[in-house]
Amino acid sequence: MSINTDWVHESLAKAQAKIAAEVDRLDGGIPYIPTNGKYTDVGARDIAWWTNGFFAGLLWQLAHYTEDKKFSDAAEKIEERLDEALSDFVGLHHDVGFMWLHTSVANYRKTGSARSLQRGLHAAAILSSRYNEAGQWLRAWNGNDTGLVIIDSMMNIPLLYWASQELNDTRYDSIARLHADTISKYHVRADGSVGHIGSFDPDNGEFIEILGGQGYAADSSWSRGQAWAIYGFALSYHHTKDEYYLNTAKRVANYFIANVGATDWIPLVDFKAPAEPVIYDTSAGLIAACGLLEIAEHVNERERPTFYNAAVNIIQSTEKKYANWDNDVDSIIDGGTEAYHTVETRGVPLVYSDYYYVEALLRLIDKDLFIW
Ligand code: GLY
Repeated sequence: MSINTDWVHESLAKAQAKIAAEVDRLDGGIPYIPTNGKYTDVGARDIAWWTNGFFAGLLWQLAHYTEDKKFSDAAEKIEERLDEALSDFVGLHHDVGFMWLHTSVANYRKTGSARSLQRGLHAAAILSSRYNEAGQWLRAWNGNDTGLVIIDSMMNIPLLYWASQELNDTRYDSIARLHADTISKYHVRADGSVGHIGSFDPDNGEFIEILGGQGYAADSSWSRGQAWAIYGFALSYHHTKDEYYLNTAKRVANYFIANVGATDWIPLVDFKAPAEPVIYDTSAGLIAACGLLEIAEHVNERERPTFYNAAVNIIQSTEKKYANWDNDVDSIIDGGTEAYHTVETRGVPLVYSDYYYVEALLRLIDKDLFIW
């Protein structure tokens, strides 16, 4: 499918200028949520924080688009800083995919760096060590409850598919597929909505119940969780060509499109929350948009417009209402929400919103760096 992409090129030009200004101000810092319009260095507070790879991923996308070393040099500085998290190890978690796909795997795919390959494989080994064989799932977090399994993990298992390909070793691929099967069975509901946290018995692996997480309630529909499912299952199809994953991605995508279309293409933070208060999450829309564009690459001509057009509507509506193009203010996309019940971070800029926004724009012109 193709659209007039003049606006995409204009937006990317503005993004380049703005991110270049942020690189100068950050001076190697790793951003997350700005305070009073300025990023701080989250890496200094917590080098293992789950979002620490996104800004480097954004820099790699721009480096790929522009071939400007300013972006790749800054991305490599962040990648080197994350070595501390790899060697500390104990702070690491299920989100190592978000940390090393956007840094080392991106670097390796772009430059072939041997050191980046090594780091990416190291992270994949850490992720695979979280596998519960009895239940066939990867555990979340590091607390006392070793039986929690979350939908977000679907976006981390591409690290395992990648490692399998690099090592010509099917073990990582098997773990990723078995985990995806478990998530599809227990987290994805018949109507296409998705639960956030599955609770399982860590001893025999059996499913117990779905728990409330970052959405409104256990039986509600946290929109960023839906978005992780759309893109995650689409990527599982990308790597395995198993139609079951594509069909799962499409089921969640159709549910998402029906809901986001009702609010002018900006998703509510939870599609099954009470009507008041009205809270949006732009990050969910942009993650979903990337997933919808991935699905559009794998479906037939008749189905493609449904997914492609919804993605374009989300990107354009988000940009029109939430993009901040002031180069003196950190972050581009406003209106993200960390979690329904975390009142202080409702309607804020989130670093991953900017990552998925730029990846989505680049996907529209076939210039994205495939990091997954
Ligand atoms: N738990 C990761 C997220 O906020 O989506």
